Amino acid sequence: MKIAIIGMGYVGLPLALRFAQAGVSVLGIDVDENKCTALNDGRSYIKHISTESVAAMRTAGLLEATSDFARVSAVEAILICVPTPLKAEREPDLSYVFGTGESIAPHLRSGQLVVLESTTYPGTTDTELRVILERGSGLLAGRDFHLAYSPEREDPGQYRPGRPSDSQDCRWPYSRLPRPGCGVLLARGRESHPGIILSRRRSDQVARKYFPLGEHRFG
Ligand SMILES: NC(=O)c1ccc[n+]([C@@H]2O[C@H](COP(=O)([O-])OP(=O)(O)OC[C@H]3O[C@@H](n4cnc5c(N)ncnc54)[C@H](O)[C@@H]3O)[C@@H](O)[C@H]2O)c1
Repeated sequence: MKIAIIGMGYVGLPLALRFAQAGVSVLGIDVDENKCTALNDGRSYIKHISTESVAAMRTAGLLEATSDFARVSAVEAILICVPTPLKAEREPDLSYVFGTGESIAPHLRSGQLVVLESTTYPGTTDTELRVILERGSGLLAGRDFHLAYSPEREDPGQYRPGRPSDSQDCRWPYSRLPRPGCGVLLARGRESHPGIILSRRRSDQVARKYFPLGEHRFG
């Protein structure tokens, strides 16, 4: 199985290594050519990620980095981990997410799964991102490809030794079927099709934590 992770930063790189360590082939995509070069050279650029762990996955042939978005056509799942910095009015700047949507849409294929991992307000996936992906691909979310929201739950500074982090613990395997209770929020409301599960409790928590004044919408 092969997946693409877009945005190889504090969230994307550990996630990529976690998948690779589980035997999943990972294509890391980043607009920063220096990061792509470092990864392909087997080097880490994040302090708490060891160069050895990156080098090991390179040697195993399970990690490759590129800035060529067209290559998403060759993977089964696409995980979006680009930044969403808060603007002055505490709204997330979604330009990176939408830019990523524009970049991957022409290369989407039927049967693929697209997962937004970036922090945002509930509803982003099923409104703006869905429209961008459908318009650029000519495919329909929920019919031709799967679309989900799975917020990153790393909590910097809360690391407890010996205990897997939320993302390690609950990361569902991105097979066609969802794993219940993993906090995968959904995009397409209640329609019953595989790959999507709605967790209202988790989306509430995320929304309250990051966007206390924001609108909560659950598809
Ligand atoms: N860092 C954390 O502990 C943490 C925890 C919870 C949630 N999050 C959320 O996860 C998301 C990612 O955060 P991060 O800390 O990994 O950010 P980061 O800045 O460390 O990494 C983002 C990466 O995306 C790349 N990028 C930017 N625009 C791109 C584009 N259009 N296409 C491809 N790559 C692009 C950047 O070059 C960078 O390498 C954010 O929404 C953040 O709020 C982060």
